[in-house]
Formats: sequence, structure tokens, C-alpha cells
Amino acid sequence: MLSTLRRSFAALACCWAGAAAAQALVNEPIRPLPVKTVGDPARIALGARLFTDPRFSRDNTHSCASCHQLRRGGTDGKALSIGPDGKPARFNTPTVYNSSFNFRQTWTGAYTGVEQLLDHVIAKPAVFADNWDVVAARLTRDERLAAQFKDVYGDALRPAYVRDALDQYLRSLVTPSRFDRYLRGEAGAITAEEERGYLRFKSFGCAACHQGINVGGNLFQKLGAMREMPGLEASGADLGRYQITKRNIDRYVFRVPGLRNVALTAPYFHDGSVETLEQAVELMFRYQLGRTASQQDKELIVRFLHTLSGDKLVPGTPP
Ligand code: HEC
Ligand code: HEC
Repeated sequence: MLSTLRRSFAALACCWAGAAAAQALVNEPIRPLPVKTVGDPARIALGARLFTDPRFSRDNTHSCASCHQLRRGGTDGKALSIGPDGKPARFNTPTVYNSSFNFRQTWTGAYTGVEQLLDHVIAKPAVFADNWDVVAARLTRDERLAAQFKDVYGDALRPAYVRDALDQYLRSLVTPSRFDRYLRGEAGAITAEEERGYLRFKSFGCAACHQGINVGGNLFQKLGAMREMPGLEASGADLGRYQITKRNIDRYVFRVPGLRNVALTAPYFHDGSVETLEQAVELMFRYQLGRTASQQDKELIVRFLHTLSGDKLVPGTPP
């Protein structure tokens, strides 16, 4: 009797799961993050260790985590981070969370991959002001660390392994949120108001640019796509991708930022000039869409954006 009951329960459970899977939303402009990340745990752990290591900077003042603070959404809350040279960086520090899903790295999309980006980070005065050989030599003097590299890579500590470990670690910084559960069809994962915000986000056209797995990060677009944005400088950082390509068509063009964890990463825009999410949304309506929206629509969209904050930010900690 009991076993029959158990069997029919099992059958029920099977169909329930089937029904839930069938309800996963399809044809949405935003795709859910993977539930599990792949990667070698030993390399990831080594990368995590390097991420907080101040020996990357000449004067031992800065680690990656100085500017990319995991508990602050992967940024440092400043408009522009200050590097070891005491000068502000050129661009607002983007989050490291989910950054491996971006088609290019940095605001101007200067680098196709993380390894290329890291070469730049090490040498840049505003970040570390050093070079790989010096950094590798300094790290190798730490016998325990050198031994760890030997364990993991079966070889002496080399810049290529440092890059690889950091790359693996960055790939592990994935932050699924309530919104991903909503996309997978979980009832009640987001509130009715948040869902209305998402519908506005789509119907007004935000999702034309902020889309895909990172809710952005897969397109270049002009800042001021529909209406010229006042106050942009005709030189320097504001020129965006033009800095790299020198093509007029790329003036004021940026990689569309991903909006995952955006509620945690103020201030906003490439120069950190926009203090609140409400202001950012307002400016997007005006200059990227050339539209006006009611206060209520903007508020609903902001509520939706909050659903993109990861359930847990620091790997290994409870949500
Ligand atoms: C002094 C502050 C600072 C430090 C230290 C720093 N970064 Fe950054 N990081 C930045 C800034 C600023 C940018 C954006 C640069 C740009 O857009 O040109 C950036 C961009 C990135 C990006 C690209 C993200 C994206 O979405 O495009 C990644 C990945 C990254 N950093 C990882 C690291 C790692 C790993 C380290 C340590 C080896 C590190 N950073 C150290 C400030 C810093
Ligand atoms: C035509 C493309 C486009 C459209 C449409 C668009 N955006 Fe953006 N969005 C961008 C670009 C490009 C940036 C980067 C601005 C900068 O670099 O200064 C951005 C930045 C943002 C930011 C700041 C992110 C950060 O980390 O600094 C938010 C928030 C945002 N958009 C939300 C929205 C919302 C909400 C809508 C709809 C009302 C929208 N966007 C419509 C292209 C677009």
C-alpha cells in the first residue's frame, strides 16, 4: 500500500517538474544565467586568492578587490576609482560579476577577452603600474604561493598561469537572481509589480539594447542614440569607442553595459556622473529612446531592475 502510494507520489512529482519546465518563458530578450558554472575548482581558488593580493601593485596598495569589491556589487561605489598613481581612472569601474558573458571587455570594448584585458590592467598607471615579469617575480618570492602554483599547474609560477587563474575565477563570478528563476517559470519569483516593470522595459524598447544573458554587454551603441546628449566632451573618455577605431561613426559609442546587479553599482554611466538608478533610467528615456514616460512607468522599471541583483554575491556565502 505504502509503496503504491509512494509510486503515485513519484509519478506526481515527475509531472509537476515537467509542467514547471514547460512554463519556462521562451522567446524573451533576456536569457537566464546558467545554474551551475563550470571550471576547475583548484584554479578558481587560486584566482580568488590572487584577486585580493596587493602585490600586483608596485607599492602593495591595490589588489583587484580594491576597486572591484565583491560585497559592493563588484565595484567600489566611486565615480572614478583612484589608482596607485593617485589619479582617477579614466572610466567608471564596471562590475566583475558576470563579466565573462560580455562580448568585449571595458566600456569601449577594447579587449576581446579577459587575458588581454589583464595585460593592460597590470601595466596601466591608473590600475597597477607594473609589468608581468616584476609581478611574477614578486609573487614567486612567496614560497607558499609558488608551491600552490606548482600543485595546480605542475610548473613554476608564470604570468600565463596567473592570467588563467584570474580568468577562471572571473568566470566563476556568476550571480543568478530572482529574475532568472522567473525566466525559468518559478511562480512568485518576482512580484506582480516587478513583472509589470519588466513588461514596460520590453515595451518601451530598453531591451533593444539591454538584452541577452547579461541584460546588455553584447552590443555597441551611441550614448544619445535618439537625441544628442548635452555635456559630452569632444575629446577624452566621452568619445568612447572612437578612441580605439578613430572612425567618426564611433564617436560617443560605448559597449551597452549589462544591467545585472545594477541596483548595487551606483554611480552610473561611463564616467560615473549619474548618481541614482532613477536618474539613469530618466536619461535613458530621454536620450536613448527619445521618449517620455510617466513617473509610475519609471518606478516600475526601477523595481524590475532590482530583481537583477544576485541572490548571493560572495561565492560560498548563504544568500
Ligand atoms: C584602480 C582600480 C582598479 C583595479 C585595482 C582593478 N580594476 Fe578592473 N577595472 C577598473 C576600471 C576603471 C575598469 C574599466 C576600464 C575601461 O573601461 O577602460 C576595469 C575593468 C575591468 C574588467 C572589465 C569588465 C567589463 O565588464 O568590461 C574586468 C574583468 C576587470 N577590470 C578585472 C580586474 C582584475 C582581475 C583586476 C586585478 C588583476 C582588476 N580589474 C584591478 C578598475 C580597476
Ligand atoms: C539605444 C540603446 C539603448 C537603449 C534603448 C537603452 N539603453 Fe541603457 N544604456 C545604453 C548605453 C550605451 C549605456 C551606457 C551609457 C554611458 O556609457 O555613459 C546605457 C546605460 C544604462 C544604465 C546605466 C548602467 C551603468 O552601469 O552605468 C542603465 C541603468 C540603463 N542604461 C537602463 C536603461 C533603461 C531602463 C532603458 C529603457 C528606458 C534603456 N537603458 C535603454 C544603451 C541603451
